[in-house]
Amino acid sequence: MAELPAVHVTTDAIGDLDVDALIVPVFRGAIEGPGTDVALRALQLADVPRDHDFRGKLGEVLHLAAPGQPWGRVTLVGLGRMDQLSSETLRRAAGSAIRSVLPRARTVATTLALVESSIEAVRAVAEGLLLGAYRYDDARSDADPIAVTDMTLVVPSSLVDGADTAVARARIHADAQCAARDIVSSPPNRRGPVEIADLAVEQLPDAIDVEVWDEDRLEEEGCGGLLAVARGSARPPRLVRLRYQPTDPVACVSLIGKGITFDTGGISLKRPSSIMESMKGDLGGAAVVFGVFTALAELGIPVEVRGELCLAENMPGADAQRPSDVIRMRNGMTVEVMNTDAEGRLVMADGLALAAEDDDVDAIVDVATLTGAAFRAIGKRASAIFANDDDLLRQLLSAADAAGEAAWHLPLWEDLRENLESDVADLDNLGRGDEAGATMAALFLREFVDGTPWAHLDIAGPFWQDEDRYHLPRHGTGVAVRTLLRWLEAADGSQR
Ligand code: BES
Ligand code: MN
Ligand code: ZN
Repeated sequence: MAELPAVHVTTDAIGDLDVDALIVPVFRGAIEGPGTDVALRALQLADVPRDHDFRGKLGEVLHLAAPGQPWGRVTLVGLGRMDQLSSETLRRAAGSAIRSVLPRARTVATTLALVESSIEAVRAVAEGLLLGAYRYDDARSDADPIAVTDMTLVVPSSLVDGADTAVARARIHADAQCAARDIVSSPPNRRGPVEIADLAVEQLPDAIDVEVWDEDRLEEEGCGGLLAVARGSARPPRLVRLRYQPTDPVACVSLIGKGITFDTGGISLKRPSSIMESMKGDLGGAAVVFGVFTALAELGIPVEVRGELCLAENMPGADAQRPSDVIRMRNGMTVEVMNTDAEGRLVMADGLALAAEDDDVDAIVDVATLTGAAFRAIGKRASAIFANDDDLLRQLLSAADAAGEAAWHLPLWEDLRENLESDVADLDNLGRGDEAGATMAALFLREFVDGTPWAHLDIAGPFWQDEDRYHLPRHGTGVAVRTLLRWLEAADGSQR
């Protein structure tokens, strides 16, 4: 990944800022309001085209020349309606604005953090700028570095004390999210399970213990789900076991990520094949867990965190599993594989079972691009969340809210559990009946957590998008990294 620009904080007057572009927020329909008064001046001084149709819609931008000013130009960015202002609208406006000036500016300043006088607003603006400045260019031979090198936030003097810490946290969160994006967007021929395991060994900070289980070890340990899915591929599976251990941890949690490095569906081949392209991102859950582990030590998270990256490629090779095969999972349960495209729950089952074996673990959270049904139900922009524990559910929903990453609670209907029964094995991976697909997958996963408090984030909607949108780039978005980091930051031992 190209390195993200530096972020500075200042209380200097606008007129003293010598930058290529000054980003000024404007509420919808009103060129006035906190942090925006300077826009009035800018509009008078800058060269405003008479026929502009800028309305201040969220994320809308208008570039103005600024003759006689220290700024090369002024970029107005819409904040949307004033009564809908939130940290997330600031984050989004910052993302749109920075993307619009990226090709032309080297140095940028913004008054966005003046709109709402809070540390949370400073943090959101910094996150929006950093996340919006990202682009995936590892695979381009002609990639230039990101042009913007320095971004300056003008903050009210009342906030100057906390602002540096807020910006530092924003950077760590943004770097973590971008690490996840890089993995999701990278081409699947370049990174199978082995390469992702190598990445964990080479790139995670020293504070993280990394242990890799290869196919022989997985065989010895009875991880039948990972092995079964990988059989159709020339690439062997890997389980990457991560551990972050602070001194005197207040709790211990385990994060499990679905890491299907490409999902063709296997013998139950996906149709039409045009929907397959985004399946290079079917390791999105593992990428999120990876991203979280890049940040734990730097943030000083007081929680012991374990991680399991469940890595395999789902291909229809000559030795692929067949619909109706029966396999045995890590926890001893047998599963009849009725559809080889429901592979995520098979690899996750082993990771969940391993996490649940350890009595030290207070909570398990898994992240997976698990079902098309999840985004059909609630849309492409929100994660579906399931949980067997109300406290954990509440904590994660509030963390998601703080991160501006929409998450919506879906049910684990007990009545549907009987649809997981198989005629020949303990479980059927598809489930009889053709309803509540996201819930059926979650109910399947629940069989492997052995009663440990557990939550499941189905990110099949938001892990990927086709177009740039605010601070989220097209393709891998890294959504859910900041939710998990906010959750871990909020931990104070109350989970014990
Ligand atoms: N990786 C897919 C789910 C998915 C689909 C994620 C589209 C993101 C976008 C998963 O392995 C899958 O194929 N699920 C099936 C389950 C079905 C066979 C029960 C699905 O959702 O159709
Ligand atoms: Mn699948
Ligand atoms: Zn999949």
